[in-house]
Amino acid sequence: MQKRFIGIGITALIILGSLSAQSVETIPLPDPQRTGGMPLFEALDKRQSIRTYSNRELSMQTLSNLLWAAYGINREDGRRTAPSARNVQEFDIYLIMADGWYVYEHNDHVLIRLGNEDLREYAGRQDFVPTAPLNLIFVADHARMAGFDPENREFYTAADVGYISQNVYLFCASEGLATVVRGLVDRDKLREVLELGSTQHVILGQTVGYPK
Ligand SMILES: Cc1cc2nc3c(=O)[nH]c(=O)nc-3n(C[C@H](O)[C@H](O)[C@H](O)COP(=O)(O)O)c2cc1C
Repeated sequence: MQKRFIGIGITALIILGSLSAQSVETIPLPDPQRTGGMPLFEALDKRQSIRTYSNRELSMQTLSNLLWAAYGINREDGRRTAPSARNVQEFDIYLIMADGWYVYEHNDHVLIRLGNEDLREYAGRQDFVPTAPLNLIFVADHARMAGFDPENREFYTAADVGYISQNVYLFCASEGLATVVRGLVDRDKLREVLELGSTQHVILGQTVGYPK
Protein backbone atom coordinates (compact mmCIF):
# COMPACT_ATOMS: atom_id res chain seq x y z
CA MET A 1 0.00 0.00 0.00
CA GLN A 2 2.82 2.38 0.94
CA LYS A 3 4.47 1.64 -2.43
CA ARG A 4 1.25 2.61 -4.20
CA PHE A 5 1.12 6.01 -2.50
CA ILE A 6 4.79 6.63 -3.32
CA GLY A 7 3.98 5.72 -6.94
CA ILE A 8 0.99 8.07 -7.00
CA GLY A 9 3.09 10.87 -5.49
CA ILE A 10 5.79 10.39 -8.11
CA THR A 11 3.20 10.40 -10.93
CA ALA A 12 1.69 13.64 -9.58
CA LEU A 13 5.16 15.21 -9.34
CA ILE A 14 5.98 14.18 -12.93
CA ILE A 15 2.71 15.71 -14.23
CA LEU A 16 3.17 18.88 -12.19
CA GLY A 17 6.88 19.02 -13.09
CA SER A 18 6.07 18.96 -16.78
CA LEU A 19 3.66 21.85 -16.21
CA SER A 20 5.97 23.95 -14.07
CA ALA A 21 6.61 26.57 -16.74
CA GLN A 22 2.92 27.50 -16.76
CA SER A 23 0.63 29.05 -14.17
CA VAL A 24 -0.91 25.95 -12.64
CA GLU A 25 -4.11 26.23 -10.61
CA THR A 26 -5.87 23.30 -8.98
CA ILE A 27 -9.67 23.31 -9.29
CA PRO A 28 -11.35 20.88 -6.89
CA LEU A 29 -14.19 18.79 -8.26
CA PRO A 30 -17.15 17.61 -6.17
CA ASP A 31 -16.94 13.92 -5.24
CA PRO A 32 -18.26 11.87 -8.15
CA GLN A 33 -21.67 10.27 -7.66
CA ARG A 34 -20.71 6.64 -8.11
CA THR A 35 -24.18 5.15 -7.90
CA GLY A 36 -27.43 5.63 -9.81
CA GLY A 37 -27.74 6.61 -13.43
CA MET A 38 -29.69 4.85 -16.13
CA PRO A 39 -29.76 1.04 -16.28
CA LEU A 40 -26.91 -0.18 -18.50
CA PHE A 41 -29.17 -1.65 -21.18
CA GLU A 42 -31.12 1.61 -21.50
CA ALA A 43 -27.85 3.53 -21.85
CA LEU A 44 -26.64 1.10 -24.51
CA ASP A 45 -29.96 1.55 -26.28
CA LYS A 46 -29.52 5.35 -26.30
CA ARG A 47 -25.78 5.51 -27.11
CA GLN A 48 -25.23 7.53 -30.27
CA SER A 49 -23.13 10.30 -31.79
CA ILE A 50 -24.74 13.75 -31.75
CA ARG A 51 -23.32 16.82 -33.52
CA THR A 52 -25.63 19.67 -32.57
CA TYR A 53 -25.09 21.33 -29.20
CA SER A 54 -26.85 23.97 -27.12
CA ASN A 55 -24.76 26.54 -25.26
CA ARG A 56 -25.94 25.25 -21.86
CA GLU A 57 -22.95 24.77 -19.54
CA LEU A 58 -22.17 21.56 -17.68
CA SER A 59 -22.36 21.81 -13.88
CA MET A 60 -19.26 20.99 -11.83
CA GLN A 61 -21.05 17.89 -10.52
CA THR A 62 -21.74 16.69 -14.06
CA LEU A 63 -18.13 17.38 -15.04
CA SER A 64 -16.92 15.47 -12.00
CA ASN A 65 -19.18 12.50 -12.74
CA LEU A 66 -18.20 12.54 -16.42
CA LEU A 67 -14.45 12.48 -15.72
CA TRP A 68 -14.78 9.79 -13.11
CA ALA A 69 -16.91 7.67 -15.45
CA ALA A 70 -14.44 8.25 -18.27
CA TYR A 71 -11.20 7.41 -16.52
CA GLY A 72 -11.45 7.79 -12.75
CA ILE A 73 -10.05 5.46 -10.12
CA ASN A 74 -12.66 2.86 -9.15
CA ARG A 75 -10.60 0.54 -6.92
CA GLU A 76 -8.35 0.73 -3.88
CA ASP A 77 -5.35 -0.37 -5.92
CA GLY A 78 -5.60 2.67 -8.21
CA ARG A 79 -7.07 0.92 -11.24
CA ARG A 80 -9.51 2.84 -13.38
CA THR A 81 -12.99 2.72 -14.93
CA ALA A 82 -11.32 1.95 -18.29
CA PRO A 83 -8.90 -0.94 -18.81
CA SER A 84 -5.44 -0.43 -20.32
CA ALA A 85 -2.93 -2.92 -21.69
CA ARG A 86 -0.74 -4.13 -18.82
CA ASN A 87 -2.49 -1.46 -16.72
CA VAL A 88 -0.08 1.23 -17.97
CA GLN A 89 -2.81 3.93 -17.77
CA GLU A 90 -1.07 5.93 -20.47
CA PHE A 91 -3.84 8.48 -21.11
CA ASP A 92 -4.35 11.97 -19.80
CA ILE A 93 -7.62 13.76 -20.51
CA TYR A 94 -7.21 17.41 -21.47
CA LEU A 95 -10.28 19.64 -21.39
CA ILE A 96 -10.89 22.63 -23.66
CA MET A 97 -13.59 25.02 -22.49
CA ALA A 98 -14.44 28.66 -23.22
CA ASP A 99 -12.71 29.89 -20.07
CA GLY A 100 -9.49 27.95 -20.43
CA TRP A 101 -7.83 24.56 -20.77
CA TYR A 102 -7.25 21.94 -18.15
CA VAL A 103 -5.98 18.43 -17.48
CA TYR A 104 -7.81 15.90 -15.30
CA GLU A 105 -5.68 14.69 -12.39
CA HIS A 106 -7.22 11.36 -11.44
CA ASN A 107 -5.36 10.65 -8.18
CA ASP A 108 -6.89 13.64 -6.41
CA HIS A 109 -9.88 13.87 -8.78
CA VAL A 110 -9.19 17.53 -9.55
CA LEU A 111 -8.78 19.68 -12.61
CA ILE A 112 -5.49 21.44 -13.18
CA ARG A 113 -5.99 24.68 -15.05
CA LEU A 114 -3.15 25.10 -17.51
CA GLY A 115 -4.20 28.38 -19.11
CA ASN A 116 -7.03 30.89 -19.51
CA GLU A 117 -6.94 31.04 -23.29
CA ASP A 118 -10.00 29.96 -25.28
CA LEU A 119 -8.56 27.13 -27.43
CA ARG A 120 -11.91 25.89 -28.76
CA GLU A 121 -11.03 26.80 -32.35
CA TYR A 122 -8.21 24.22 -32.19
CA ALA A 123 -10.29 21.45 -30.61
CA GLY A 124 -11.43 20.00 -33.94
CA ARG A 125 -11.96 20.55 -37.63
CA GLN A 126 -15.77 20.50 -37.68
CA ASP A 127 -17.98 23.57 -37.25
CA PHE A 128 -19.96 22.21 -34.29
CA VAL A 129 -16.86 21.64 -32.16
CA PRO A 130 -16.45 25.17 -30.72
CA THR A 131 -20.21 25.47 -30.10
CA ALA A 132 -20.14 22.83 -27.35
CA PRO A 133 -19.20 23.69 -23.76
CA LEU A 134 -16.60 20.92 -23.50
CA ASN A 135 -14.11 19.16 -25.72
CA LEU A 136 -12.06 16.33 -24.29
CA ILE A 137 -8.69 15.59 -25.87
CA PHE A 138 -7.30 12.12 -25.19
CA VAL A 139 -3.51 12.30 -24.96
CA ALA A 140 -1.34 9.18 -24.68
CA ASP A 141 2.04 9.42 -22.99
CA HIS A 142 4.42 6.88 -24.48
CA ALA A 143 6.82 7.51 -21.61
CA ARG A 144 4.55 5.26 -19.54
CA MET A 145 4.85 2.47 -22.12
CA ALA A 146 8.54 1.71 -21.80
CA GLY A 147 7.87 -2.04 -21.86
CA PHE A 148 6.16 -1.93 -25.28
CA ASP A 149 7.98 -1.77 -28.62
CA PRO A 150 6.98 1.29 -30.73
CA GLU A 151 4.61 -0.64 -33.02
CA ASN A 152 2.74 -2.03 -30.04
CA ARG A 153 2.55 1.38 -28.39
CA GLU A 154 0.42 2.69 -31.26
CA PHE A 155 -1.72 -0.42 -31.31
CA TYR A 156 -2.44 -0.38 -27.61
CA THR A 157 -3.08 3.36 -27.35
CA ALA A 158 -5.59 3.01 -30.20
CA ALA A 159 -7.28 0.17 -28.33
CA ASP A 160 -7.13 1.75 -24.87
CA VAL A 161 -8.66 5.06 -25.95
CA GLY A 162 -11.78 3.28 -27.17
CA TYR A 163 -12.73 2.19 -23.68
CA ILE A 164 -12.41 5.71 -22.30
CA SER A 165 -14.45 7.10 -25.17
CA GLN A 166 -17.16 4.48 -24.75
CA ASN A 167 -17.36 5.28 -21.03
CA VAL A 168 -18.03 8.89 -22.05
CA TYR A 169 -20.65 7.76 -24.58
CA LEU A 170 -22.48 5.67 -21.99
CA PHE A 171 -22.32 8.38 -19.35
CA CYS A 172 -23.72 10.89 -21.83
CA ALA A 173 -26.50 8.52 -22.85
CA SER A 174 -27.40 8.04 -19.20
CA GLU A 175 -27.41 11.80 -18.48
CA GLY A 176 -29.20 12.99 -21.62
CA LEU A 177 -26.00 14.64 -22.88
CA ALA A 178 -24.80 14.80 -26.47
CA THR A 179 -21.35 13.54 -27.48
CA VAL A 180 -19.28 12.49 -30.46
CA VAL A 181 -15.77 11.07 -30.55
CA ARG A 182 -13.57 12.64 -33.21
CA GLY A 183 -10.52 11.53 -35.14
CA LEU A 184 -10.74 14.64 -37.28
CA VAL A 185 -8.37 16.77 -35.20
CA ASP A 186 -5.25 18.71 -36.10
CA ARG A 187 -2.84 16.76 -33.90
CA ASP A 188 0.17 18.97 -34.61
CA LYS A 189 -1.73 22.15 -33.74
CA LEU A 190 -3.19 20.60 -30.60
CA ARG A 191 0.24 19.39 -29.55
CA GLU A 192 1.48 22.97 -29.92
CA VAL A 193 -1.36 24.81 -28.16
CA LEU A 194 -1.64 22.25 -25.34
CA GLU A 195 2.16 22.54 -24.90
CA LEU A 196 2.58 18.77 -24.91
CA GLY A 197 5.89 17.05 -24.25
CA SER A 198 7.75 14.99 -26.85
CA THR A 199 6.39 11.69 -25.52
CA GLN A 200 2.75 12.87 -25.51
CA HIS A 201 0.50 12.09 -28.48
CA VAL A 202 -2.98 13.41 -29.27
CA ILE A 203 -5.12 10.41 -30.23
CA LEU A 204 -8.78 11.52 -30.36
CA GLY A 205 -11.08 14.33 -29.33
CA GLN A 206 -14.58 13.98 -27.90
CA THR A 207 -17.16 16.75 -27.80
CA VAL A 208 -19.66 16.87 -24.91
CA GLY A 209 -22.64 19.12 -24.18
CA TYR A 210 -26.40 19.28 -24.09
CA PRO A 211 -28.20 18.47 -27.33
CA LYS A 212 -29.74 21.40 -29.17
C1 LIG B 1 -12.27 6.29 -34.01
C2 LIG B 1 -13.46 7.13 -34.39
C3 LIG B 1 -13.26 8.35 -34.99
C4 LIG B 1 -14.35 9.16 -35.31
N1 LIG B 1 -14.12 10.40 -35.82
C5 LIG B 1 -15.15 11.23 -36.04
C6 LIG B 1 -14.92 12.57 -36.46
O1 LIG B 1 -13.80 13.02 -36.66
N2 LIG B 1 -16.00 13.36 -36.65
C7 LIG B 1 -17.29 12.93 -36.44
O2 LIG B 1 -18.20 13.72 -36.60
N3 LIG B 1 -17.54 11.66 -36.02
C8 LIG B 1 -16.50 10.81 -35.81
N4 LIG B 1 -16.73 9.55 -35.34
C9 LIG B 1 -18.11 9.12 -35.04
C10 LIG B 1 -18.62 8.15 -36.10
O3 LIG B 1 -18.88 8.85 -37.28
C11 LIG B 1 -19.89 7.49 -35.56
O4 LIG B 1 -19.57 6.73 -34.43
C12 LIG B 1 -20.52 6.61 -36.62
O5 LIG B 1 -21.05 7.37 -37.66
C13 LIG B 1 -21.65 5.74 -36.03
O6 LIG B 1 -22.62 6.57 -35.42
P1 LIG B 1 -23.05 6.34 -33.91
O7 LIG B 1 -21.86 6.68 -33.03
O8 LIG B 1 -24.19 7.30 -33.68
O9 LIG B 1 -23.44 4.91 -33.76
C14 LIG B 1 -15.66 8.72 -35.06
C15 LIG B 1 -15.85 7.46 -34.46
C16 LIG B 1 -14.77 6.68 -34.13
C17 LIG B 1 -15.01 5.36 -33.45
